[in-house]
Amino acid sequence: MQKNCIILASGNGSNALNLIGKFYGRKNNGSSSINIVAVVSNVPNAPVVEKVRKNEPELPVFVIPFTHLSERDRFERELDDIIGKYNIDFIILAGFMRILSKEFVSKFSRKIINIHPSLLPAFKGRDSIKRAYGYGVKYTGVTVHYVTPEVDSGEIICQEVVKIEDNDDIDSLEAKVHSIEHKIYPIALKSIIGDVVYKS
Ligand code: GRF
Repeated sequence: MQKNCIILASGNGSNALNLIGKFYGRKNNGSSSINIVAVVSNVPNAPVVEKVRKNEPELPVFVIPFTHLSERDRFERELDDIIGKYNIDFIILAGFMRILSKEFVSKFSRKIINIHPSLLPAFKGRDSIKRAYGYGVKYTGVTVHYVTPEVDSGEIICQEVVKIEDNDDIDSLEAKVHSIEHKIYPIALKSIIGDVVYKS
């Protein structure tokens, strides 16, 4: 049985576009157990909004502004309505830069998944790639994990290591990390929603 998934994104949208390319229903012809049925952004002018609308005009994209904490209740109420309307099974965070409330996260326990550009628990929070590079670690990576009320702390679903070479700069490192994200996020999602066993 297919599982309906909604993507939440705030920024550039490379992970969102990658997942849509693999799991948007119209494309996978029902062959995948994952079906992306809608996208929500909290940032009206985020590149992800325009990119998804341009690439997949029939995929519903909702913009629910949420910058300040005072907007969170309304954001979550509207998101909850969309989740109900589209019978959503899983909520996939792909560069979603806001913290969801404890109540919301608890309501969807083990149904919200996030990707983080470091080897958690190292470099939680923002600018993880830059901070790892600045710290001088020799290895960083990517983590896919369940979302819990404590930020970047939920159970780890999978991780992959990225080696920082002497000749890497921040741009080359970011490119390496993103390319691993695009590789492992679909596999991680299939491993929990579909029928694939993840092997690192
Ligand atoms: C990614 O590095 C992801 O791990 C982090 O936010 C970034 C989003 O990039 N949570 P994009 O918008 O998917 O290009």
